[in-house]
This record gives sequence, structure tokens and C-alpha cells, in this order.
Amino acid sequence: MKILVTGGNGQLGRSLHKISNDYPQYDFLFTDMPEADITDKACITDLVRQHGIGLIINCAAYTAVDKAESEPELAERINVLGPMTLAEVAAEHEIRLIHISTDYVFGGESCHPLHENTATAPTGVYGRTKLAGEKAVQRAECKAAIIRTAWLYSEFGNNFVKTMLRLGTERDSLNVVYDQLGTPTYATDLARAILVIAEQMQNPTTQRCEIYHYSNDGAISWYDFTQTIFEAAGITIPVHAIESALYPTPAQRPAYSVLAKDKIKAAGATVPYWKTSLLECLAILGALKK
Ligand SMILES: NC(=O)c1ccc[n+]([C@@H]2O[C@H](COP(=O)([O-])OP(=O)(O)OC[C@H]3O[C@@H](n4cnc5c(N)ncnc54)[C@H](OP(=O)(O)O)[C@@H]3O)[C@@H](O)[C@H]2O)c1
Repeated sequence: MKILVTGGNGQLGRSLHKISNDYPQYDFLFTDMPEADITDKACITDLVRQHGIGLIINCAAYTAVDKAESEPELAERINVLGPMTLAEVAAEHEIRLIHISTDYVFGGESCHPLHENTATAPTGVYGRTKLAGEKAVQRAECKAAIIRTAWLYSEFGNNFVKTMLRLGTERDSLNVVYDQLGTPTYATDLARAILVIAEQMQNPTTQRCEIYHYSNDGAISWYDFTQTIFEAAGITIPVHAIESALYPTPAQRPAYSVLAKDKIKAAGATVPYWKTSLLECLAILGALKK
């Protein structure tokens, strides 16, 4: 089967690319802007027709959570019109779509792991546009899966792990919030889970649109995450645990966004413990202390 990956230059897209040789049964076509704009229906239709695509994996998104508050139109265009366009093309060509979404569709008020049917209540532009994108995919008549993830990091692009490694060498001390709980997701693990769902979707009895949650296992705060990164990397600057109120951001962060993974585990996906995967990524980055 031929798979079109959109947003292929982002950290999830590049993680899929990294593991693609392990899946010789699939022929991947990695694309990104400007040659494959997910809001351009003619362009996506051409790609699907020309390459005989059987599945689209949408890794493209507007992901600048804080900036979205000041450019809601652009966030909406990419996060709503984009998946809507892909879902329409998938429906018209009777092919499948895997779309990636986020824990930001939840309000963060819960203190129990969030299931796929937990009520959504986004608090900012990013979360609202990602939720509207999910609904657009659900409305379309294509076979689709929506995979919500959280706290994504990888050896590619910009992410929390790479930022902390950099700040650990630039600063004398750091303040990090300890009252936001969640679970990091190593993008390589998510990429493998996506391909498990891709295989499941080839079963003709699969539902028209399923939602799954995926992150690594466990639950920690950003403070715990930072301490573990620093310990593994041999960075010794002091890290102070602070409350979110002392670190205001344009977009509100969910206080609790631990995703329940029972459904995707039952589908056959592997969910490693967050620290195991963190150490794997740090080793690839050459950041582990000698
Ligand atoms: N990062 C996280 O912590 C996190 C957490 C939860 C969920 N997610 C979700 O996980 C998915 C992957 O995230 P990521 O971190 O890999 O994102 P990313 O690194 O920001 O990559 C997104 C990619 O999409 C491209 N793109 C933007 N607009 C596009 C368009 N109209 N058409 C085609 N491509 C376009 C971007 O190009 P430019 O760079 O040129 O804009 C970029 O290469 C997204 O759906 C995101 O919402 C991320």
C-alpha cells in the first residue's frame, strides 16, 4: 500500500520517515509545504491520483500553541480546513485517513486519565481548532482514525527535551512548573503506533471513524521531566519547582492531561514507559552523560 504522509518535515513526519525502512510492506510518500498544502484540495487530489495512494497520514498542523492566540485565522485554516480537505479527498477516492490530534481538546480539569469519550472542553485557539478539525474528519464519509497525543518530543525540530538540554548549558538555574501533569510522547513510539492502526484499518470490518489516545506510559509533571533529562544528561544546575501562575503564557495549559491508552494497547500498539523512551532519544541525541 502507498501511504501519503503530509507535514513530513515536522517532528512526527520525520520520525515516521526514520522508521519507514522497517515497514517494507508500505511505500511512503513524504510531503510538506509548499508542494503538498493540506488546505489545497486540487493539490492533494493530484497526489492521491498520481501515486495511487491508499492511506493518508496527516502529520501537518499549526502547532504554535501560544502564537495561535494572536493568529486564529491561520490556525483555523491549517487545523480545520486542512483535515477537512484531506477527509473529503479520502472519501471521494475511498481511501483511508489517519489524523493526529491533541490533549489540548480537553480542558485539563479532570484528575483521572482521559479516555477517548471523555468530554472535550478546549480553552484556547489551538485546542479549539484541533477539536474542530477532528469533527470535520468525523463528519466526512471516509474511513478514518484520529489519534490524540500529548507532550510530543523527538530528536527532530524544536521540542521540550531539546530546549531543556540547551537551557541547561546556558542558564545558572531554571524554574519549571510542577502543577501540570501529563505524559511525554516519544515521536518514534507514536509513529510505530500509527502504523499498527494503519494495519488495523485494512480490516474491512473496522468502524468508519475511531478515536485513539497515545502517549508513553506513566504520569509526571514538567518539573519531573526536566529533572530526569538533566540527571540523564549530567546537567547539574538547580531546577526550582514553580506553580503555573508564576509562568503566565498566552494560551492556558491543561493542568491534567494524562491520556488513557487502553484502547490503542488493545489494538496492538506498544506503549513504552516514558523514561525508557526518553533515554532512547537522549542516546540518539548523544546527550547521555558519559
Ligand atoms: N508538538 C506537540 O507537543 C504535540 C502535542 C500533541 C499533539 N500534537 C500533534 O501532533 C501532530 C504532529 O506534531 P509535530 O510536533 O510533528 O508538528 P510540527 O513539528 O510543527 O510539524 C508540522 C508540519 O506541518 C507543516 N505544515 C504546516 N502547515 C501545513 C500545510 N498547510 N500543509 C502541509 N504541511 C503543513 C509544518 O510546516 P512549517 O514548519 O513550514 O509550518 C511542519 O513541517 C500535530 O497534529 C500536532 O497538533 C503535537
